Amino acid sequence: MGDYTNMSGYYDLIMTSGYYDYPKIVNELVAGPGFQSVLEIGCGTGLILEELASRKHDIDITGFDLTEAMLAIAKERLSKFSHVHLEHQNVTGLDLHQQYDLAFSYGGVWYFVMDGINEPFLVSHIYDHQANMSGWERVAKHIAPQGHLLLGVQGPHSNYATPIRNGYVYSQAITPLPHGFNKQYFLDDGPHRLMEQSIDYRTYPFAQACEILASMGLVYQPSAANAAQFVSFVKP
Ligand SMILES: C[S@@+](CC[C@H](N)C(=O)[O-])C[C@H]1O[C@@H](n2cnc3c(N)ncnc32)[C@H](O)[C@@H]1O
Repeated sequence: MGDYTNMSGYYDLIMTSGYYDYPKIVNELVAGPGFQSVLEIGCGTGLILEELASRKHDIDITGFDLTEAMLAIAKERLSKFSHVHLEHQNVTGLDLHQQYDLAFSYGGVWYFVMDGINEPFLVSHIYDHQANMSGWERVAKHIAPQGHLLLGVQGPHSNYATPIRNGYVYSQAITPLPHGFNKQYFLDDGPHRLMEQSIDYRTYPFAQACEILASMGLVYQPSAANAAQFVSFVKP
């Protein structure tokens, strides 16, 4: 279920070598409808929240994550911001006793893949369908009326190997599964394997994902679909 313990010690190095563009992600978050409270689903080591918290000082920011080792890094990174709160939780049982104007996931528990060629689809770090349903239900309960859910958009998955900043080589390998795919992540220093992680991802066709989210009271907003980084849902 999306455990990032093995990768945690190398996560920042890999991601800040060009895997994600954090300032661009936050540009789009802040360009959308205004919000006073925001929740990041699967905040990892807090790279997005750091960018957001340093730009927005007058809002309430919360992040949660399943992987304690990732959250430990986030806690250290974000300790300088008194308006950021972090929680160790699994989205399938999310319970924060609060509703948020905006909840978002970028590369966290759920995201969309849109390559402009194939039908768009949703990817989940949770392979089990019922567990996904519980997670969506829990998230929907944490969004305030008129609030939004934004799910990040990523490019297609492929097998590749690439050197990162310090010369280590990051690689990934994708294998199809009946309801999604398995992704293996590797980091090598010459002949030495530093990190290996394997996750089974569930996939859902775009229309099915929208139907499920609508059944939880979160309605797809096609007007916002041209935004590059996120797909938007609103709680009417
Ligand atoms: C690729 S990382 C993304 C982290 C962060 N959003 C970023 O952009 O750097 C995915 C994160 O989702 C978390 N995650 C996966 N499944 C989860 C679940 N069921 N509940 C909460 N967090 C989960 C993982 O622990 C990991 O930290």
